[in-house]
Amino acid sequence: MTDDRERWALILGASSGMGEATSRALAAAGYKIAGVHLDFRAGLAHVEEVKAGIEAAGSEALYINMNAADDGKRAAAIETFRQRFERSRAAGGHPYFRVVMHSLAFGSLVPFLTEEPKDGVDRKKMEMTQDVMANSLVYWVQDVWRAGFLERGSKIYAMTSEGTSRVVPSYGVVSGAKAALESHVRQLAMEFARKGGGIAVNSIRAGVTDTPALRKIPENQRMIDVTLARNPHGRMTTPQDVADAIVTLSATDSDWISGNIISVDGGEFVTG
Ligand SMILES: NC(=O)c1ccc[n+]([C@@H]2O[C@H](COP(=O)([O-])OP(=O)(O)OC[C@H]3O[C@@H](n4cnc5c(N)ncnc54)[C@H](O)[C@@H]3O)[C@@H](O)[C@H]2O)c1
Repeated sequence: MTDDRERWALILGASSGMGEATSRALAAAGYKIAGVHLDFRAGLAHVEEVKAGIEAAGSEALYINMNAADDGKRAAAIETFRQRFERSRAAGGHPYFRVVMHSLAFGSLVPFLTEEPKDGVDRKKMEMTQDVMANSLVYWVQDVWRAGFLERGSKIYAMTSEGTSRVVPSYGVVSGAKAALESHVRQLAMEFARKGGGIAVNSIRAGVTDTPALRKIPENQRMIDVTLARNPHGRMTTPQDVADAIVTLSATDSDWISGNIISVDGGEFVTG
């Protein structure tokens, strides 16, 4: 079925790893990209490269450097998108967020049991990680839905990991956030289905992927070694694998794949 609407993708975490690859792939597939990211001086040159790549694909890169968990900044971002969509409408276009991807990596990588309290998790670290990596999905989806940016055929994806069912010493805080994220996805999927608006929500469980976020996990080299031994393809997942999956899953208007955890890992999860 042809779709003459103007497809946009809202990518939370659009400057690196899976969010970057998906932004670039969706741009090549004809989407315009609204990208949210948090980068400081050292990362800004890379952000410019990503935006240039998107524009070179004939698309548009509306990138905002902000903390995605800040309510005031989220409200300002929604207003920026509203104004941009108004410009399209004034020119006869019909813009909407065809894809919303939650791909934020920002968590405390500390154990629970440490001799020194400052070295372990505390309430602030626990709540900050949960807020950015899980709860922010709900607040963004509420806002873009209330603003009328989601329509029949829209797809929402949240990036989860094996951390919900396996343990790594420094990953416990993020594991808890991922468990909450998957729960939020199920709840959103059910509520959208009951409204009948044709909007699907799924978790994407990527295999272990070599990105800046992975390299921050203290046990990353062991995770890489174990993954290379375990993944039946003998390689790690790449950000491009995730991007290809999201482009493909977003091709249809169907909302019948919803409320799932979709593995994008070449069979890693099911291989012992
Ligand atoms: N790398 C892996 O092995 C792996 C596996 C499974 C799931 N995941 C999940 O995939 C997602 C993306 O991970 P990645 O490996 O691509 O990470 P990455 O570090 O390459 O990218 C993270 C992105 O999030 C942005 N970001 C972080 N905190 C932010 C904040 N507070 N506000 C706005 N933007 C913020 C960064 O600017 C960057 O664009 C994460 O949720 C991660 O847990 C990663």
